[in-house]
Amino acid sequence: MNIVHTIKDLQAGLTALRAQGKTVGLVPTMGALHAGHASLVKRCVAENDVAVVSVFVNPTQFNDKNDLAQYPRTLEADCQLLEACGVTFAFAPSVEEIYPEPDTRHFSYAPLDTVMEGAFRPGHFNGVCQVVSKLFDIVKPDRAYFGEKDFQQLAIIREMVRQMHFPLEIIGCPIVRETDGLALSSRNTRLSAEQRQQALRISQTLFESRDYAATHTVAETQKFVEDSIAAAQGLRLEYFELVDGNTLQKIAKWEDADYAVGCITVFCGEVRLIDNIKYKG
Ligand code: PAF
Repeated sequence: MNIVHTIKDLQAGLTALRAQGKTVGLVPTMGALHAGHASLVKRCVAENDVAVVSVFVNPTQFNDKNDLAQYPRTLEADCQLLEACGVTFAFAPSVEEIYPEPDTRHFSYAPLDTVMEGAFRPGHFNGVCQVVSKLFDIVKPDRAYFGEKDFQQLAIIREMVRQMHFPLEIIGCPIVRETDGLALSSRNTRLSAEQRQQALRISQTLFESRDYAATHTVAETQKFVEDSIAAAQGLRLEYFELVDGNTLQKIAKWEDADYAVGCITVFCGEVRLIDNIKYKG
């Protein structure tokens, strides 16, 4: 595996391989890699001749400076995981390499990016689109892989690709969970052992709500989730929304959508965790 830090080195390597007719896959990450990332990376390696994984903690998508400072940075361990997965290039640029000058571009995909995370983290998706569009321009992948755990991010990136005519395929990959159900997240490393147990109620609540939803209305299911998280020790619900999985707009009745998803964000102590579950479709 080649570990490269500059756009020039990455593109030199890719140009040579592309000249041989090789296909290129990209997995954008912010590092602190876990088995969830590994599932995306393995799929990228399996489906493309050349696999590029970017490891870059993107400052423009953090609306909270503290969150940016606390974000785990584990490049050495990340490279070991990527090497074991068979990655061709680990691309670990500096902030100056990606943003030699401030990125003043504005991305707006309303109403996809104004709800849920977009409402609670102003500017977050603008930053995500800034960096992902730069990575697409730099790498020019045939395919790019994103996790369904960041459900809203995936929908917005699909829309960006559609509107900007990026000639690539976006592949969404299923959430990877611990055996007890907790969705894998780089942020889980910040949970104490006690918080790790408390956080488990998030996925448990979502699974229980899926059974509950089979015989209850959208409003009742909404209340079920809210009550369950309110009753759980150590958790504070930021939002839970039952949405149409394509438009991300709230649904009032199950018949309102062919594809219905519940998206949740919960604070466990200081750690902000997200998860989602499909109810229909
Ligand atoms: O999902 C993430 O880790 C980040 O938002 C991404 C897509 C790598 C952009 O920085």
